[in-house]
Amino acid sequence: MTTVLVTGATGTIGTQVVKSLKGKDVTLRIGLRDPSKGDAFRADGAEVVAYDYDRPETLEAAFAGVDRVFLMTPFVESALPLVQRAVAAAKAAHVKFILRLSAFGADPHATRALMLDHGQCDSAIKDSGIPWAIVQPQVFQDNTLTSRLPTIKSQNAFYGASKGGRLAVVSSADVGAVAAEILSNPDPHRGQVYMLTGPEALTNTEAAEKLSQVTGRTISYIDLAPEAYHGALTGAGLPPWAADAIVGLDLATARSEASAVTPTVQEILGRPAETFDAFLTRHREQF
Ligand SMILES: NC(=O)c1ccc[n+]([C@@H]2O[C@H](COP(=O)([O-])OP(=O)(O)OC[C@H]3O[C@@H](n4cnc5c(N)ncnc54)[C@H](OP(=O)(O)O)[C@@H]3O)[C@@H](O)[C@H]2O)c1
Repeated sequence: MTTVLVTGATGTIGTQVVKSLKGKDVTLRIGLRDPSKGDAFRADGAEVVAYDYDRPETLEAAFAGVDRVFLMTPFVESALPLVQRAVAAAKAAHVKFILRLSAFGADPHATRALMLDHGQCDSAIKDSGIPWAIVQPQVFQDNTLTSRLPTIKSQNAFYGASKGGRLAVVSSADVGAVAAEILSNPDPHRGQVYMLTGPEALTNTEAAEKLSQVTGRTISYIDLAPEAYHGALTGAGLPPWAADAIVGLDLATARSEASAVTPTVQEILGRPAETFDAFLTRHREQF
């Protein structure tokens, strides 16, 4: 049976990749920084191995005997060395296919550091000599449940600097389902870069209105000057590079650089991408 290694399996997208791969005809191997935390995966029949970019010696063993890899890197200042480490280990283990989790707007010539880094990581995969595909998702709908949740709960508000710019946020469930489809049948997807979006591009004010409808509370989007938003993010504990990345995304959104809606989720899954309304309704209890 084909063995698929899933990295980042405890994260937003990795969780969904594992969930969607369960119904597929593959053997699952889960790479965790701390394999002792893998009991839930083991209970589902998966093998759990150590996988830690900061301990490169774990990578080669994790890739040994693996056919296909879902390769994600965490949100770090530069993921390129991590991808380079993974590619070296995957080559040594004769891995046959890599699906990389990138980001919408990734470009090896981008001026924004995060998009430049993602673009360079994409290039490292394309140049690896290992058959590949890349998914470039738009901003996750799930950020409403993670980075935005604290102020939604405590202040009935969330913040940004995107003005009236539109963004076609995508659900992690759709990204995971697309990834699982590609990993279970990679041949038609080899050498493809897929930009994944939700079905509609929304302003943050519209997103706040939808949140208000679903929760029954008035939840506001508060648009800040870029410097003020940056200060709020660093004040909340984010390192400056991360605040730069988040504010940079909002400024690109304000310039309408991120408003595209792609048909790719529908094309690959044969059903429409999840709407933000449906996502919020599915997670209503968490707000
Ligand atoms: N958020 C967005 O809107 C968005 C949109 C497009 C693209 N992206 C990209 O998506 C990626 C993040 O994906 P995500 O949101 O699914 O991740 P996430 O929820 O932030 O989870 C991070 C995952 O990485 C693992 N991890 C952390 N450090 C590691 C290390 N040293 N070695 C191995 N694994 C490590 C974590 O494992 P532990 O359980 O050990 O902590 C966890 O499973 C980033 O590349 C980001 O740029 C994000």
